[in-house]
Amino acid sequence: MTTPDLAAIRQEAVDALGSAPTGAELRAAASAALGKRSPLAEAHRQLGSLDPDARKEAGRRLAEVRAELEALAERRGQELAAAERAAELDADRLDLTEVIPDAVPDRMGRGHHHPVSVTRRALEDTFVAMGFVVAEGPEIETDWYNFGALNMPPAHPARGMWDTFYLDLGEPESTVLRTHTSPVQIHLMEQALATGSLPIHAVMPGRCYRRDTPDARHLAVFHQIEGLVVDRSVTFADLAGTIETFTTAYFGSDIHARLRPAYFPFTEPSAEFEITCTLCRGAGCRTCSQTGWIELGGCGMVDPAVFDAVGIDSEEWQGFAFGFGIDRCVQMRHQIADMRLLTENDIRFARQF
Ligand code: DAH
Repeated sequence: MTTPDLAAIRQEAVDALGSAPTGAELRAAASAALGKRSPLAEAHRQLGSLDPDARKEAGRRLAEVRAELEALAERRGQELAAAERAAELDADRLDLTEVIPDAVPDRMGRGHHHPVSVTRRALEDTFVAMGFVVAEGPEIETDWYNFGALNMPPAHPARGMWDTFYLDLGEPESTVLRTHTSPVQIHLMEQALATGSLPIHAVMPGRCYRRDTPDARHLAVFHQIEGLVVDRSVTFADLAGTIETFTTAYFGSDIHARLRPAYFPFTEPSAEFEITCTLCRGAGCRTCSQTGWIELGGCGMVDPAVFDAVGIDSEEWQGFAFGFGIDRCVQMRHQIADMRLLTENDIRFARQF
């Protein structure tokens, strides 16, 4: 083979390999330049017809060109792979600076707070406007805070009013998931005593737990808001007025509230408060079990035994307390027939608020 021949073969292969635009085309060009039917392979086969010296020289040059072309194919392959990877990454890129235009929030599907959170805040605002502060307490309580300090010593029958989840932390039945927000009253009274900050006018919202089977009016994990006033010369009329003011402010003046005598160990006297069922407007329906009324919670004058338990002088101080369900308020405010809808995370339900 003449030198110009080999030079032309080499140049053609260098051009084809160096400019192959994709991996597939590079593989085709490499097979054309280096494969069994390539001019290079053909030239190799013809070496046999040369005399020994010329064969040696031509063989060396063929090997050089083959090595050069193989290296070139390899390099071009790496270039193409890198470019393909970069293009892939570019296509996958997330633009985190993207701005959701305020003009079309619904179309952009922006989320919002759950109706229970919205209601909790609205209730807090209503009470803050009446001069209460907002406080919180733990969801895991000792038996003492959830029951004992609330005038329910161990084995007191009133404990049966709450189906309780116990935590297994060693000592049996010593730690509970709070069944109501009333234990936060005890924490607040202890704090006020320790810091000399009586009187107390506070509301305490939060999550509670009961070993109940959920139904149209009950959830096993639900929310309450507790109220506590400890002051000098507080009367039942102050309590009734507070409840009346709250129900009118929150549900509107066409919804009636009533207090009915009841029993709670931590208040004396005690009452249950109910509002007109907003689903049937008092006529009776499945949600209110045909009574026309929905129970929101309980209330009463703080029992002196509770003051004794924390060490507040019940000769000097009186108080009233109340506690009611936030989820029930959501249900009545929005006429939701079944409370379980609040926890099902159905987007068609959530979108309505
Ligand atoms: N903790 C009671 C319950 O969950 C409700 C309650 C009743 C709270 C009377 C009070 C109260 O503060 O005084 O059933």
